[in-house]
Amino acid sequence: MFNLRPVTVFTSLRPFPNLFVFYFLIINTHKSTITMPTSLDLVGKESWRQRSELEKMADLPPELEKELDRLDNEFWVSRDKLKEIVKRFQEELEDGLRKHGQNISMNLSWVLSMPTGDEKGTFLALDLGGTNLRVCIVELHGKEGKEGKRHTLTQEQYKLDPKIKESTTEDLWNHVADTLQTFLSSKGLDKQYTPDSPMPLAFTFSYPALQDRIDHGKLVTWTKGFDISGVEGHDVAAQLRAKIEDRGLPIDLVCLANDTVGAMIASAYNDPATIIGAIFGTGCNAAYMEELSKSSIPKARLSDDDWKLAEKEALKMAINCEYGAFDNERRVLPVTKYDEQIDRESPRPGEQGFEKLSAGLYLGEIFRLILVDLVDRNLVFKDQDVSQLQKPYTLDTGFLSEIEDDETPRFEKTRALFKEKLGLEPRDEEIELSRRLAELIAVRGARLCACGIAAICLNSSLESGHVAADGSVANKHPKFKKRWAKALGEVLDWEDREKASHAQDNEGPIKLTSAEDGSGVGVAVIAAMTVERRERGNFIGLRR
Ligand code: GLC
Repeated sequence: MFNLRPVTVFTSLRPFPNLFVFYFLIINTHKSTITMPTSLDLVGKESWRQRSELEKMADLPPELEKELDRLDNEFWVSRDKLKEIVKRFQEELEDGLRKHGQNISMNLSWVLSMPTGDEKGTFLALDLGGTNLRVCIVELHGKEGKEGKRHTLTQEQYKLDPKIKESTTEDLWNHVADTLQTFLSSKGLDKQYTPDSPMPLAFTFSYPALQDRIDHGKLVTWTKGFDISGVEGHDVAAQLRAKIEDRGLPIDLVCLANDTVGAMIASAYNDPATIIGAIFGTGCNAAYMEELSKSSIPKARLSDDDWKLAEKEALKMAINCEYGAFDNERRVLPVTKYDEQIDRESPRPGEQGFEKLSAGLYLGEIFRLILVDLVDRNLVFKDQDVSQLQKPYTLDTGFLSEIEDDETPRFEKTRALFKEKLGLEPRDEEIELSRRLAELIAVRGARLCACGIAAICLNSSLESGHVAADGSVANKHPKFKKRWAKALGEVLDWEDREKASHAQDNEGPIKLTSAEDGSGVGVAVIAAMTVERRERGNFIGLRR
């Protein structure tokens, strides 16, 4: 059975590579022709060794073996548990469409259709990410683009001073406006455009913002470790606009969009099979298209004329779910004491309950907290200087990816990483333990990430299509896609032989694809759609 790979065979064959290949072939042939299971739920009562994809490199002393058993128990999300989570997820998604002030806020974006792929124009795009500030000139060529290339992009990336994360609204927007000014003059755009004939600006703001209109966004709460005073509860578009005006910059902010909406629209611009835009990176969130009707989005407030127009044109609205806040009460999520500590010590305890278990910002920190716990109980790194390990957030998701990706003979890469980042020299058993920890944290994350998407698909009866995902976890973690796809198959009951085996390879009916550049191209397409909509006289969610 393919999930029950005989790890003991793998492990004991390490010194005999040819024999290893021989067994590997047998196992895989066996897998595809003889015992292909009819269910993906093969996770009944395995030990962590059976569940693990890792080759064993060292025996663990009994006390560490016991710890791993415990951790495996706490971190493993079984198929039944996945289903329980998805059920609750579906309810919370619905609550968010019905009423304001729910865990999952289901923010209206006022993006009222998928793109045709033929949107055109030149736009300035601004992306306020977690670590960088990016400014781009995006030229959209539509379907006539040369060699099928529908856009051209010129960009500059400016590193965000980490201090900004804890500064004030003045510091933030002055910094952003100064950056825009530098960009405009370095590209000669300040000569090309005037305040009377300004360059349209599309702004990616990747935090939960309530939008009364497409060029407005009231920040509800900072997420992803940001804690800048004076912004929550305010319209960030207005705050930025004021600074642009102060400087007399020839820019007009025409739309603001979440990164998930940007990812979906950028991807749909090129790939009509796109159904969802998702970010599995520092944060975790997704967007999809919901029918714009009173019954589908009861909380939406439109004028009678606009409801009529929505019905006549069968409009849909992109919804930024903000589902990182799923289950803030932690009713169904598999929360460990390490997750609790992360939450307690975060700038906003009790918020982003789901994100804190599944997103890139936190995975490395969970790993660190487990090691600290084991150090405190004198189980690992005895007699070594652990001061570096004591520093919060010293390890990022890249650290875990590299450990999982390490194929060097004696895991030299992992040893070097420990030395470089933590000043530690792990023994074989500590390497073995760390590899398994990296795996179980990442597997839990990927399986949870599948839950949000499964819930959207079930609520909207989406049975096939592409989930366009961006973010460091989706794109840089070597095993994320497969793990995510397998879990999705478990939840959506892709039980027949073909779908199950396809899910293993992320080739199921709902497939994870790499998103196009949402915060550059995506928001530019949204700006083009907004301009075009205004020209057609559809002012739903636009400034009149
Ligand atoms: C956080 C933000 C959300 C964003 C996500 C991915 O969850 O609240 O707006 O989409 O991170 O960046």
